[in-house]
Amino acid sequence: MPGAIHAEGLVKTFGDVRALDGVDLDVPEGTVLGLLGPNGAGKTTTVRCLTTLLRPDSGKAVVAGLDVLEQPDAVRRSIGLSGQFAAVDEYLTGRENLRMVGQLYQMPAKAAKVRADELLEQFHLADAADRTAKTYSGGMRRRLDLAAALVVSPPVMFMDEPTTGLDPRNRQQLWGVIKQLVSGGTTLLLTTQYLEEADHLAHDIAVVDHGRVIAQGTSDQLKARTGGERVEVVVHDREHIRAARALLDKYSLRGPGAGDTTVEDHMRKITTPVSGGAKLLAEIIRELDSRGIEIDDIGLRRPTLDDVFLSLTGHVAEIKDEDDGAAQDTAGHGHRHGKEAVK
Ligand SMILES: Nc1ncnc2c1ncn2[C@@H]1O[C@H](COP(=O)(O)OP(=O)(O)O)[C@@H](O)[C@H]1O
Ligand SMILES: [Mg+2]
Repeated sequence: MPGAIHAEGLVKTFGDVRALDGVDLDVPEGTVLGLLGPNGAGKTTTVRCLTTLLRPDSGKAVVAGLDVLEQPDAVRRSIGLSGQFAAVDEYLTGRENLRMVGQLYQMPAKAAKVRADELLEQFHLADAADRTAKTYSGGMRRRLDLAAALVVSPPVMFMDEPTTGLDPRNRQQLWGVIKQLVSGGTTLLLTTQYLEEADHLAHDIAVVDHGRVIAQGTSDQLKARTGGERVEVVVHDREHIRAARALLDKYSLRGPGAGDTTVEDHMRKITTPVSGGAKLLAEIIRELDSRGIEIDDIGLRRPTLDDVFLSLTGHVAEIKDEDDGAAQDTAGHGHRHGKEAVK
């Protein structure tokens, strides 16, 4: 049985740009899928196709049991999209914004009022409820935006980079809210550039790059797929980086010269994927010693999602931590970089 969100072969081009190049996805009911990818990977375009805002050139999608292309109105009534349907009005207070959404959905005034109060409480906005939204910080706006998307408790939710641009404290707070939400059985598709966020919130992670899903699985499966552990060596003298690299490269999982061995010059750190555990570590220490390469540190670690990304895409995920500014983009999409603004 297809999941609450199911897509097959979604293709979308904008002129010469193939934003989606055959996206396949399946999100079982009541689970969270993290769509993880760098800027320009096709995350927003996927969300826009699944939420009926954009018509794919080809492919099909079913959301909450409804065909996205054939029953767009019914799909819209069954989903919540953080940032789009729930556009926050700057000149209304938080409370007024939430009541207005309820009224738009034709809730009786009394019910809309009760629901607004519940959400203000749940999203830690009760104290600011009677201030206009334009006085809210970035974090508060995101919470209000999310609350607005939840006024009618949709069974399927989409969130496009819900925490981009938030400071770590606000991000944590929002994670708490999202966890609470999905514990109630909501199916959620969440896009993110933050590996840690996908690791934290998602049951399954789909890695997207250049408009395609290049890997899907749990965080542990993706890490296992990336292969083995990593050995990390920090050499004492900068002059020894090259020799140590050549030595470690001999042990690299895919064989010497496969390009898996990386060097962080400023930290004098060399890393390579290996299999063989502690025994191998002892051997590497002996070899380094016999060549007179003094080390400050050596250790084995499991691959991180950063390693997963690097090994799948050949490039490191871009991660930007930005200030939680009150004056930021209010589209709720975190699109603060001009080149990816939705046109
Ligand atoms: N409306 C549009 N017109 C032209 N190009 C677009 C449009 N929307 C997205 N793109 C392009 O499609 C690609 C995927 O964009 P997007 O889905 O926004 O990526 P992401 O959300 O992963 O950053 C990018 O190359 C982007 O520039
Ligand atoms: Mg985007």
